Amino acid sequence: MTDVKDIKFWDRISKKYAQDPIADIPAYEYTLERTIAHLNSTDKVLEIGCGTGTTALKLAPHVAHITGTDIAHGMISIAKERQSDQNIKNATFETKSATDIPKDNQFDAIVAMNMLHLVSDLPATLRAIHSALDHDGLFISKTVCYPQKKGRLSFKLLMKVVPLARLIGKAPFVKIPEIETLEKAITAQGFEIIECGNYPEHPPRRFIVALGNSLISKYSQGGAGDSMSPADYFGKTPNRTYRRICTTCSGVSTTAKAAASTSFNACW
Ligand SMILES: C[S@@+](CC[C@H](N)C(=O)[O-])C[C@H]1O[C@@H](n2cnc3c(N)ncnc32)[C@H](O)[C@@H]1O
Repeated sequence: MTDVKDIKFWDRISKKYAQDPIADIPAYEYTLERTIAHLNSTDKVLEIGCGTGTTALKLAPHVAHITGTDIAHGMISIAKERQSDQNIKNATFETKSATDIPKDNQFDAIVAMNMLHLVSDLPATLRAIHSALDHDGLFISKTVCYPQKKGRLSFKLLMKVVPLARLIGKAPFVKIPEIETLEKAITAQGFEIIECGNYPEHPPRRFIVALGNSLISKYSQGGAGDSMSPADYFGKTPNRTYRRICTTCSGVSTTAKAAASTSFNACW
């Protein structure tokens, strides 16, 4: 449940947020490019916490339709104005909380950029996302996380001040996760992480691409009647490039061969 204080906070800063430049353009462009690489032109996409629509409107030309939602009416109004200025027809913007996902749709991909550290109930948000995705849908997110080494202490101290600032309306709800905690929360809902990295590195904004579990669990169980191997599945999506992270050794592979391997749990 979203606190009215937070809705008011984001509403109030929406005009300023729209004017603020992107803090780290190379990091933004890299994750935008990686996000586009995972999407197909037939995909129906939802972006939660879409803010003023910058990313949704950049993704729109690459997908069939994108719906952007945000708790702040001010953010959504600006997103709609930008949509009209850019004459983009395949986007819809709605004022909604992250867990209030349009029910009439099953989405091929759900995007959440710079917002999972702002939700008060992360497991409930991830559960809602998982259930709104089509069986083999993708969840693509970027989240501010605690630095693992450099700057960790000062970041922790800063986060101690946030609840006080929130009392006087100067900050929203914020709960910065550790990278490991965030990834565990995502996989606990049944996702498999297929790509991740920090963009920017300091403080880390963890970019995570996760695949809904149905096909994956079918493969790993190798059950009777499983007619589609991972190689078949990835073969059907030649435009998608996958960077797989080994859950055992954290090794990374960017090769199509790794993505199409018949074992999802081996060290690449
Ligand atoms: C830091 S901004 C990020 C906006 C955009 N995704 C971006 O990357 O520029 C966070 C956004 O999340 C929205 N937000 C915060 N809590 C939310 C919630 N519980 N449900 C939906 N949106 C939320 C805020 O209104 C704000 O627009």
